[in-house]
Amino acid sequence: MPANTNIPKPFYITTAIDYANGAPHLGHAYEKVLTDVIARFQRLCGRRVHFLTGLDEHGQKVQQTAARRGISPQEACDEVAVLFQALLRGLDITNDDFIRTTQPRHKEIVRRYLRQLHDAGLIYKAEYTGFYSVRQEQFVLGKERNPDGSWPEIYGEVASITESNYFFKLSQYQGWLVEFLGENPDWIFPRFRQRQVLEFLKEPVNDLCISRPKERLAWGIELPFDPDFVTYVWFDALVNYASAVDATGLWPADAHVIGKDILVPPHAVYWPCMLRALGLELPRRLIVHGWWTLGGSKASKSTGNASHTLDLAGVYGADAFRYYVMREMNVGQDSDFSEEQFKIRYRSDLGNDLGNLLNRLLNMGARYSGGSVPVAPEAFSGDGVPERELRALWDATAPQYLEHAAGYQFHAALELLWGFIRALNRYTEHRAPWKLGKSDVPADRVLLEACLAHLAEGLRLTAVALTPVMPRVAARIQENMGLSPATSFEGQLEWSSRAAGSRLAGKAILFPPVDA
Ligand code: ME8
Ligand code: MG
Repeated sequence: MPANTNIPKPFYITTAIDYANGAPHLGHAYEKVLTDVIARFQRLCGRRVHFLTGLDEHGQKVQQTAARRGISPQEACDEVAVLFQALLRGLDITNDDFIRTTQPRHKEIVRRYLRQLHDAGLIYKAEYTGFYSVRQEQFVLGKERNPDGSWPEIYGEVASITESNYFFKLSQYQGWLVEFLGENPDWIFPRFRQRQVLEFLKEPVNDLCISRPKERLAWGIELPFDPDFVTYVWFDALVNYASAVDATGLWPADAHVIGKDILVPPHAVYWPCMLRALGLELPRRLIVHGWWTLGGSKASKSTGNASHTLDLAGVYGADAFRYYVMREMNVGQDSDFSEEQFKIRYRSDLGNDLGNLLNRLLNMGARYSGGSVPVAPEAFSGDGVPERELRALWDATAPQYLEHAAGYQFHAALELLWGFIRALNRYTEHRAPWKLGKSDVPADRVLLEACLAHLAEGLRLTAVALTPVMPRVAARIQENMGLSPATSFEGQLEWSSRAAGSRLAGKAILFPPVDA
């Protein structure tokens, strides 16, 4: 990007890049949706956005999975890449780029960074004896053993090995990092995670082993200064955020969205220290979400317990899935995925509250006002108490909704919006336009038109606000109301008579009943 411009840099947001050793699961899907919702919010608020996601293709796990299947690691990755890209399309994810760490554009930058750090004396070779966990692809410390001498379950098989390796002088950045975190208490969202990082940094950190001997692991990026070694997968993977936008002016990222399991140490310790050593800016924020569990245990590909949850998106629609995960998960906390709760929300929040509201408008518009939205009669701009209350509720809802969204509190934002949707339904029941329509009294006609106008405007505002979370449903509501889908919040979230006179469709079923 030219340096001599006043146009702000696009909002650059990333997801973690998923391991290419298995099919996507609920955790992956959630992270994409969360990031997409943030990206869409930014766009609707008028920011240009660059949204990156991708695949982490190197490392022992991929090599082992491919070997078990008798195919090459690259073939295995290519298959998995197809699955992840289908997931993105299926969930209407608006990523601008998809990086794969086996791409030349990425490998080239990893080698450039390694050479730079090596030349600067920040990478050195040493012999190391330690306990190595294949499952976690990391050395583990003796003190992590259980009291009975066994290793914690998460490490799988642990073996003592001695090898020569290359190390990055991570330890020399510890003091700087502690200071940086102290000065930037909002670097990590939520804040309690930042305190966990500081807790971790109370113990001295070791230099980071950034190589693996090829005889143990061939599937990786060869070190530019020693062909007998490949790059440690985390050192390779983290670089994706920068390699994907090399020489574009997009760096630094405005937000990395990741799960809590990869905060400490990779994203909160290795990555900032690597960037510091390379003389690059740090990402502006880490947004750390919790875990989805299924009946209490973590959804993951190794336990294979989460694939049916993704089928729900196919059966009920991507928007229903997006709504469910955003409504249920308080970003930063864990949440249990319940198919029962999913179905309840589909029937109740979506079908009964939102779907019915649109149907009421379309039905009554066809029946009582010639299939178009009436202009709210002048007498009702301020006179009707229920109308005034409805407008006041929206005036209070809109800024709070945006504030919750800006603070990643999407569950709260949606709860608030549904409060407004339910108020629209109550308002309609209170005015009972189906009764007013049968009356010959002119004042009742005025009330009827006021009611339909308010219902339409309330629904229009709801659809605009809902766009980042349920883009298809929002567009369908607007289209059924004869409106073109909003592409910006600007001037669209204030109560208006924008819908007045627009043509209503005859009928729409947003959330069809689904048989078991
Ligand atoms: O960690 N609930 O890849 P990954 C919520 N390749 N999120 C979950 C989850 C769950 N049950 N399970 C996984 C890796 N995730 C590395 C990342 S980034 C430079 C390299 C999240 O496939 C997890 O927290 O194991 C992570 O953010 C993402 O899915 C990919 O996990
Ligand atoms: Mg994982």
